[in-house]
This record gives sequence, structure tokens and C-alpha cells, in this order.
Amino acid sequence: MAEPFRYNRTMIALHWLTAALIATAWIGAQVIDFFPRDLRMPVRSTHILLGLILAATLLVRVAVRLTSPPVPPANAGLFERIAQLGHILLYILMAAVVLIGMGYAFVRGETLYGLVSLAAYAPADRSWRHLVGEWHELAANAILIVAGGHAAAALFHHYVLRDGLLRRMMPAA
Ligand code: HEM
Ligand code: HEM
Repeated sequence: MAEPFRYNRTMIALHWLTAALIATAWIGAQVIDFFPRDLRMPVRSTHILLGLILAATLLVRVAVRLTSPPVPPANAGLFERIAQLGHILLYILMAAVVLIGMGYAFVRGETLYGLVSLAAYAPADRSWRHLVGEWHELAANAILIVAGGHAAAALFHHYVLRDGLLRRMMPAA
């Protein structure tokens, strides 16, 4: 019998690296204000650095995906369309959170550990800062919600339908 489909090792590594980067960047952003003032800059810098690594990971991931052989469907009919739309939405949201995050750093004026610094765009005008921050947070929260549904669907397949779906995204033993 033919071996069931499995994503290639690079796609698998990039998938789990992406999930880890998103989880740590999101948690990091939530806890910045719990740090004493003088420690907030390095924590915020780490958040930005994780976001920049996510940006690079995303570019490599899309390039590898587009140059790899096509992925055979894991579902039938409408469910496959929904799964594909969910995956595309996740790619779009990841690009959005990174791009809007960069915009947020630009309007706020940020530094990366004091090594590189950006002057704030229109520092007197707080409205831009507020708006872009809201959009950045919205995109970040939307990823968590869509990825939560995506993970629940994957676990349902694996443990309820018992079709071994998770193995498609796990390295061979
Ligand atoms: C922030 C977290 C996550 C993001 C952004 C994410 C994103 C994605 C994307 C974009 C794909 C499609 C890959 C492609 O064909 O190009 C995918 C596939 C997959 N993901 Fe995730 N994922 C996340 C977390 C998880 C978690 C927690 C699980 C498991 C519980 C999971 C299980 C899977 C599986 C099994 C596939 C393959 C689905 C298939 O073969 O149709 N993912 N993920
Ligand atoms: C290059 C990418 C990114 C940049 C430049 C960036 C930049 C920033 C900055 C400067 C802040 C303000 C921090 C503070 O309030 O002190 C922030 C907040 C935040 N970021 Fe990011 N970020 C990026 C990627 C991400 C990613 C990948 C996530 C998670 C999916 C994320 C989630 C958040 C959240 C939830 C907040 C809190 C929003 C708020 O309360 O205003 N960011 N980001």
C-alpha cells in the first residue's frame, strides 16, 4: 500500500516554528506592561524580533509551498474548500499582523534593543498610533481564533475521525 501523504520536512519545521513564534509573540505583547519600565524596551524589542523572524519564516514557507508538489486533499467536497480557505486566511492574517506590526513600530517610533531606532512618524498625532495599534491587535487576535478552529479541526480528524491527519504535519518516526 502507498505511504500516506506527509508534508516535507521543511514545511513541517516551518509550520511548527510559525505556531511557536505566534504564541510567544502574542504572549510577550500581553505581558510587556507587567515588566518594570526600564525592562519594557528589551521585552518589546524581543516581541519585534520574533515578529521579524516570523516575517522571514513566512517568506521561506510560501516559497517552499509554491515550489513543492501539490498537497493531496485531506477532506472531501465542501470540507476541503473550508479547510483550504482557512489555510489561505491564516497566511493572509500572518502577513497582515507582520505588516501592520511594522506600521505600528513606524508610527510609534521604536528601537530594537537600542541598536537600531526609528523616529516616530508624526509623534504629536496620537490618533494614527491608536488606530494602527488597534488593527495590529485585531489581526493578532484573529490569527489566534482562526488557528484555534484550525487546530480543533485537526484534532477532531485525528482523534474522532481517526484518519491520522496530524501525521501529515509530523516528521516521520
Ligand atoms: C498559530 C498556529 C498555527 C498556524 C498559523 C497554522 C497554519 C497552518 C497552515 C497555513 C497550514 C496549511 C499548510 C499548507 O498547506 O500550506 C497548516 C496545516 C496544518 N496544521 Fe496548522 N497552524 C497552526 C497550528 C496548528 C496546530 C496547533 C495544529 C495541531 C493541533 C495544526 C495542525 C495542522 C495540520 C495537521 C495541518 C495539515 C492539514 C492538511 O494536511 O490539510 N496546526 N497549518
Ligand atoms: C514584525 C512584526 C511585528 C512588529 C514590528 C510588532 C510591533 C509591535 C509593537 C511595537 C507593539 C506595542 C507594544 C507595547 O504596547 O508596548 C505591539 C503590540 C502587540 N503585538 Fe506586535 N509586532 C509584530 C508582530 C506580532 C505578532 C506576530 C503578533 C502575534 C500574533 C503580535 C501581537 C501583538 C499584540 C497582541 C500586541 C498588543 C497590542 C496592544 O495592546 O496595543 N505582534 N507589536
